[in-house]
Amino acid sequence: MNSSKAEAAASNLYWHHGALERASRAALKGQKPCVIWLTGLSASGKSTVANALEQRLHDMGRHTMLLDGDNVRHGLNRDLGFSEADRVENIRRVGEVARLMANAGLIVITAFISPYRSEREIVRNLMPAGEFVEVYVSTPLAICEQRDPKGIYRKARSGEIPNFTGISAPYEEPQAPEIMLDTTDKTVDEAAGIVVAFLKSYNVV
Ligand code: ADX
Repeated sequence: MNSSKAEAAASNLYWHHGALERASRAALKGQKPCVIWLTGLSASGKSTVANALEQRLHDMGRHTMLLDGDNVRHGLNRDLGFSEADRVENIRRVGEVARLMANAGLIVITAFISPYRSEREIVRNLMPAGEFVEVYVSTPLAICEQRDPKGIYRKARSGEIPNFTGISAPYEEPQAPEIMLDTTDKTVDEAAGIVVAFLKSYNVV
């Protein structure tokens, strides 16, 4: 649909108020919904920490869902590439999906580079206050590049991958994340533990 058609269609849409409040859905699970948003460079440790964190929360009896960049780009966002416009749309969709899942009462963990500050702020503002936890996985570029588990930094340096975050495309660091996590000298368990401790202090778990 082109944008003028989309606007015309949207102007004839109405919001249906459901009978059930989002709080009731979460209450059934005995938990507080929340979006835990991991952002950082490729190979910074986002997915690894996100997986360990989800396991920890699951073991604590919490109902969680994990959305991971590489996986979501195989399905919902398979039509998107890595131009600025496509990354913006990637994060917009993920933000909306995360919000829907939080409305269902879940604790949602996301692992996307999400390089633009403004897009992360848009997602933060989709959520009620206190239900968005930004985790900046701040592992330095040099370490990420040294790890290079998928060999993509090497390809990016040789020019094979254009618009590569940290090399030929920007990454805008969060200015006031709830948590900063440099995984250089931490075990996966330690890193996940830092997030769990914060969630406890924040009354999420
Ligand atoms: S985002 O920038 O739009 O948030 P996302 O987290 O979904 O990115 O996807 C990042 C993953 O896509 C990386 O871990 C890497 O495997 C792969 N990838 C492919 N091309 C690029 C690129 N140009 N820049 C960064 N990551 C890329």
